[in-house]
Amino acid sequence: MALTGLILLGFVIGHLIGNLQVFSGPEKINVYAEFLKNLGGVLWVIRGFLLFCFVLHIVTTIQLVLENRKARPEQYAFKNNVQSKLSTRMMALSGLTILCFVIFHILHYTTHNVNPEFGVWLDAKGRHDVYRMMIVGFGNPLASGFYIVAILLLSMHLSHGVSSVFQTLGLRTQKTAAAINALARTLALVIAIGYISIPVAVMMGLGKNYLQECGASSASCCTKPSASTKEGN
Ligand code: HEM
Repeated sequence: MALTGLILLGFVIGHLIGNLQVFSGPEKINVYAEFLKNLGGVLWVIRGFLLFCFVLHIVTTIQLVLENRKARPEQYAFKNNVQSKLSTRMMALSGLTILCFVIFHILHYTTHNVNPEFGVWLDAKGRHDVYRMMIVGFGNPLASGFYIVAILLLSMHLSHGVSSVFQTLGLRTQKTAAAINALARTLALVIAIGYISIPVAVMMGLGKNYLQECGASSASCCTKPSASTKEGN
């Protein structure tokens, strides 16, 4: 569970670094997306491995909770019991929300089921226009709101999860606990701010000019006529 959690954390950090390129404009993020797409078979191996880790993370978590219940049917001292039940429930709730979020997110930005037009938008150089997809995607306050709530819960999940990894490794002692908690919280906060900055920036006007250009000249954005219906909104 700790290992799969760490691997997934690595993905979350890597994905954030990739996504932050949206602040450097369409060229950077579209080149990055094209690079990932061109990985071809390697990309599918990475996707398969991540999915395997994700499923294993959930399965081992459920196993651990069930084992803990079996091993300690008697109650803890009142205070500890309330505390541990609360954090377990919080982890379960945030974990479930992350699961729902990832499913929605893939339907939104990878398979484009939520907005089918996203899939046919190409930039002036004929690459998938991921920049435009993000700007239009986060231009919807409902979608942005859902992303922000999910990322806040992801951040809580990571904060608790990172501390727990140190506990699992036997590195969290009375002496180190405060420093480890502070490290976990800081990491979770940086990740949350990084991700949330994207929908917030879009809602504050990031990419507005690009969308206006799309409206003025379809050649500089979508090159496929079938996508022209939702241009420049
Ligand atoms: C502002 C926040 C985020 C943005 C802008 C964003 C952006 C994207 C984009 C554009 C894609 C599609 C890549 C492509 O197919 O070209 C994607 C895929 C994905 N994202 Fe995110 N993402 C965000 C947050 C997250 C978070 C928090 C997670 C994990 C908890 C996550 C997990 C994934 C996964 C698993 C995929 C599928 C990867 C694949 O199919 O290869 N994303 N994201």
